[in-house]
Amino acid sequence: MTAHGRKYSLTPRDVPRVDTAHRRIVTRLPVPESVPLLENLERFEPSSMQGQPPVIIDRTEGCHVHDKWGNMWLDWSSGVLISNVGNSNPHIITALREMLDKPLLSTYVFAHEKRAELVGLLNGLAPAAGYKVFLLTTGSEATENCIKLAKTYGMEKRGPECRYFITFQNAFHGRTMGAQLAGGNPAQKKWLGRPDDSFFQVPFPDGYKNPDMRFELFLETLASRGIPAQKVCGVMSESFQGTGPDFFPVEYAKSLADWCAENDVLLIMDEVQAGFGRTGAWFAFENYGIVPDLIACGKGVSSSLPLAAVIGRPDVMELYPPGSMTSTHSGSPLPVAAAVASIRELQRGGYLENARAMDPVLREGLLSLQGRHPLRAGRVQSKGLVAGIQIVLPGTRTPDARAALAVNEACFRRGLLMFAPVGVAGECIKIAPALDISREALEEGISTLGDAMDEVLP
Ligand SMILES: Cc1ncc(COP(=O)(O)O)c(C=O)c1O
Repeated sequence: MTAHGRKYSLTPRDVPRVDTAHRRIVTRLPVPESVPLLENLERFEPSSMQGQPPVIIDRTEGCHVHDKWGNMWLDWSSGVLISNVGNSNPHIITALREMLDKPLLSTYVFAHEKRAELVGLLNGLAPAAGYKVFLLTTGSEATENCIKLAKTYGMEKRGPECRYFITFQNAFHGRTMGAQLAGGNPAQKKWLGRPDDSFFQVPFPDGYKNPDMRFELFLETLASRGIPAQKVCGVMSESFQGTGPDFFPVEYAKSLADWCAENDVLLIMDEVQAGFGRTGAWFAFENYGIVPDLIACGKGVSSSLPLAAVIGRPDVMELYPPGSMTSTHSGSPLPVAAAVASIRELQRGGYLENARAMDPVLREGLLSLQGRHPLRAGRVQSKGLVAGIQIVLPGTRTPDARAALAVNEACFRRGLLMFAPVGVAGECIKIAPALDISREALEEGISTLGDAMDEVLP
């Protein structure tokens, strides 16, 4: 099943052969020999894990994904926006080998050299001097930690009344309890039962699902709920909402940052998905010219192994005494070595520059596909090397998750790999290749997506 409850077929079917520099399909799909493995996964794992196109990944390199039966996909997923410096980047592999050869596999929060190197690097990327860095394992832990720090900050500065944590409708901050309280998708929060009223979501100014892009709507929504600024401890948003991707209007983001600064409310940007070059900037909030107090990082921070981080204002990061804000795998040597290698690779250059150079290629390519399917491709959003096409029922803004999945599956059969559609209702075909994808590979992908859309969309 996909994130929206739909399932890819496990019945092998004949598909046309494909053989280009970036895509090779030489078997039926799914590969008949892979089906028992996929069925085993269905048998032994919860169905929540069955969401992706039916490939058994054997190895990955750069912007390619291989199975062991000779098929190769052009990868437009980067995992799920993880491998910004390319799949299985050789510099990361070398760094991991060095750590394995020491050997050093785990340390808890005993110090090790690479951890010192990584927090120094992340401190150097912070938007202001003196920011501190707390290493964790998953993006959800990072956003949860931001919630905890903001609530603690509010309580200590202004007392227990200062408890409101504001986020945005349609936001995604992870799947643990605090992250889902902060999330903006009501369907994902049903399990929480009675809601915690200190978490409150305001409309995101995306200009499509919510056409009102005025910052005043933020103020009006808080006022209508009777939440004064002095009772708000923090405002958190993804720097772009993953469902679109949807971006803030620059003026809105600046007004929000000013409002937070004027009212001593912590501004928190969730860069788990957006950070480390995805939009052509180190952090996507740089596109708005704002300075957050806390930054949640994950995914692309290491381009590979599980690592997350909170980078934040020193007075906020120092709210907890020694030993009281840690995690067993904070600064685990292998993910840390991977992150150091990945950040140094991004710093060596080429990646952010390529994301910026490919920005018009991707946007114009997708807009031309939208032009071919104006009634079904409801919206195209793109920045750097992240983009989305929202598939809708003809001539409406109503999401068509079934058609989006069919397009995704038709791409898979043609050797173009994307993760299952995302979006509020599974209508968004999301595109996120490695940041060094060549123009030729990107254009091949756009043309393949166009063929799939021509096949599926009447
Ligand atoms: C914006 C954002 N925040 C938080 C998370 C949660 O990260 P993780 O799955 O590593 O817990 C994600 C994951 O997709 C995300 O996209």
